Amino acid sequence: MKRILTLAVIALCMAGGTARAQMTNEARMKTFIDALMKKMTLDEKLGQLNLPGSGDIVTGQAQSSDIGRKIREGKVGGLFNIKSVAKIRDVQKVAVEESRLKIPLIFGMDVIHGYETVFPIPLGLSCTWDMQLIENSARIAAVEASADGINWTFSPMVDIARDARWGRIAEGNGEDPYLGSRIAEAMVRGYQGTDLTKNNTIMACVKHYALYGAAEAGRDYNTTDMSRQRMYNDYFPPFKAAADAGAGSFMASFNEIDGVPATANKWLLTDVLRKQWGFKGFVVTDYTGINEMVDHGIGDLKTVSARALAAGIDMDMVGEGLLTTIKQSMKEGKITMAQVDAACRRILEAKYKLGLFSDPFKYCDENRAKTEVFTAGHRTVARNTAAQSFVLMKNQGNILPLKKSGTVALVGPLADNKENMPGTWSVAANFQKATSVLAGLKEVVGDKVNILYAKGSNLDADAAFEERAGMFGKALGRDNRPADVIIKEAVDIAAGADVIVAALGESAEMSGESSSRSNIEIPQVQKDLLKALLKTGKPVVLVLFTGRPLAIKEEHASVPAILNVWFGGSEAGYAIADVLFGNVNPSGKLTTTWPQNVGQVPIFYAHKNTGRPLEEGKWFSKFRSNYLDVSNDPEFPFGFGLSYTTFSYSDITLSSTSLKGNQQLTASVTVTNTGNYEGKEVVQLYIRDVVGSVTRPVKELKGFQKISLKAGESKTVSFIITPEDLKFYNYDLKYVWESGEFQIMIGTNSRELKMAKVNWVK
Ligand code: BGC
Repeated sequence: MKRILTLAVIALCMAGGTARAQMTNEARMKTFIDALMKKMTLDEKLGQLNLPGSGDIVTGQAQSSDIGRKIREGKVGGLFNIKSVAKIRDVQKVAVEESRLKIPLIFGMDVIHGYETVFPIPLGLSCTWDMQLIENSARIAAVEASADGINWTFSPMVDIARDARWGRIAEGNGEDPYLGSRIAEAMVRGYQGTDLTKNNTIMACVKHYALYGAAEAGRDYNTTDMSRQRMYNDYFPPFKAAADAGAGSFMASFNEIDGVPATANKWLLTDVLRKQWGFKGFVVTDYTGINEMVDHGIGDLKTVSARALAAGIDMDMVGEGLLTTIKQSMKEGKITMAQVDAACRRILEAKYKLGLFSDPFKYCDENRAKTEVFTAGHRTVARNTAAQSFVLMKNQGNILPLKKSGTVALVGPLADNKENMPGTWSVAANFQKATSVLAGLKEVVGDKVNILYAKGSNLDADAAFEERAGMFGKALGRDNRPADVIIKEAVDIAAGADVIVAALGESAEMSGESSSRSNIEIPQVQKDLLKALLKTGKPVVLVLFTGRPLAIKEEHASVPAILNVWFGGSEAGYAIADVLFGNVNPSGKLTTTWPQNVGQVPIFYAHKNTGRPLEEGKWFSKFRSNYLDVSNDPEFPFGFGLSYTTFSYSDITLSSTSLKGNQQLTASVTVTNTGNYEGKEVVQLYIRDVVGSVTRPVKELKGFQKISLKAGESKTVSFIITPEDLKFYNYDLKYVWESGEFQIMIGTNSRELKMAKVNWVK
């Protein structure tokens, strides 16, 4: 007993010590910044708030460039999307050697899903449901980016997205606030580690705050309008989770909220973010976010710049509104020195926390740049991660995995193209180092399997569309022969094969920023190719590339096997071969609901019941909430994904069916691998709050565990549920739980669930 007490005392002292160390760090930072700010002129303070576009900085040119001049004059706080230690060192030198106060610059970049070693697009990554894997991907991205001079990333993107038309659904983690929150935390941990002063950690920037994913009609940058209920319960949680995880910065979104653009929305940036959540970092606008408020129609540049700063913006990306107008607004009494100081202090604090004042060149180590970027080790992790992100949508007759013998006909516009494999937002990628499906297959099984190839079709029949969908060096190359001639060539080579693998779908730039679609099907010319391939009677495997949920009802019905591979990153080609040939058993699960057609969008599993729900088992009933021409069911539900093996679930065992107050409930199921392969399964827990003071969703994800089971093996999976898991924001936006009946559901996806009921009272 005495020993336990002694240990407890030591632990307490240590905790006190850590707190004291933190206090002294904070105090030291404050003293340092106070002293620095005393020396700063107003212009120099405004300069810190400025994040100009860096143009095309070329090594050796920093001195003479316009950016160089501005840096020398103290008018620049940071730069972004400059790649290479040499270029970054060059501009940093101007800042710390030639500007009056020698304040170092912060260097940002869109390191979204990896750096040169590219991981799957975030929507794909989220389908791993593996928080360690996701954290590692961010860790590796941080190691590579920091080795190349970067210390701040515009990631994670945590926008909840429930509209497949919106192209940026590719950049986020899907539709669910609970899963989105866990991923947000994992990403922040991965980038920032536990110590930002190290030279291999970088500051996270959580974006796009907020509601950007709810753009009307799925059209990028469009208006959003939603209830506070929905904001707090569904759209805010991943942002709050990232703030709680210690993210150093936030980025405001382009859209308006309640009629005020996020960039000037004081309620959002100050009341919610700083006052309610206690966020202490800095907030940057999105690209020209301030200037765009002129077009939003809330004033001229001077007015909108003042509104942005007063609302809580600290740094102005590209537009220079703060730099060029705030002085005048101060003269007019619209902005105070205290407001400028607060923003300036937050930028300086970020630089201090990153250790840039101690060593402005700490991320400029050429040796690290040479040895820590795109390493064999990182690529192996990326390859494995990509394989885990793939979702097996159908596998009729167990066509997959393929035999490592015989002849495979690889067909499709995405089969022999490496540039598209990294996917959208892969700013630092070297496309030439990515691996195409063809190259991946040859490398992995080329010694045993005869691989034939034909393109089979263009990406789209419309050359102008294809051009728009192939920007940023990702053109697929156009075959100008008539479509039927290109298809016939593929059908002819397929005649000599045992199986056809069709690599079809979207190109990388068919999703991402400003890539919204009103038609979310596979382009018709590719569908024609697929039909011709099916007609041969040979088994066909569709390897589906996409950055969004697609409407693939037709393909789901007609193609025996579908493996959805998103955009898997630089190692995608290898990972696809690994999964097709069974070296890896797929285990990805969808993090978005896939609709039957675009008319069902927005569609998501955690919907409300309505006063006129459709009766169970029916797909149409007059005067019920449904459609005349399509059932309410999705084509694939949230959480769905198959494996080469099969799993069975026992009924749920509960520790109690009647609980009181802060008691804990344990809900368990036994999962058995009933197939022939070792495999991973994501066991999902959903809860329904049957009666509430406000209406509650039909179910909400509240937990998940990814387990691995050998063929024939069983495991008992238990979830501990506490009243915390029952909480929601009520009508008054208080975070509460309410007494009553709860349904506890556990299963393999949001549709196939075992259910048990409990009564839980305060
Ligand atoms: C995007 C942001 C990105 C920024 C900087 C904007 O267009 O919306 O996500 O971080 O550009 O490249």
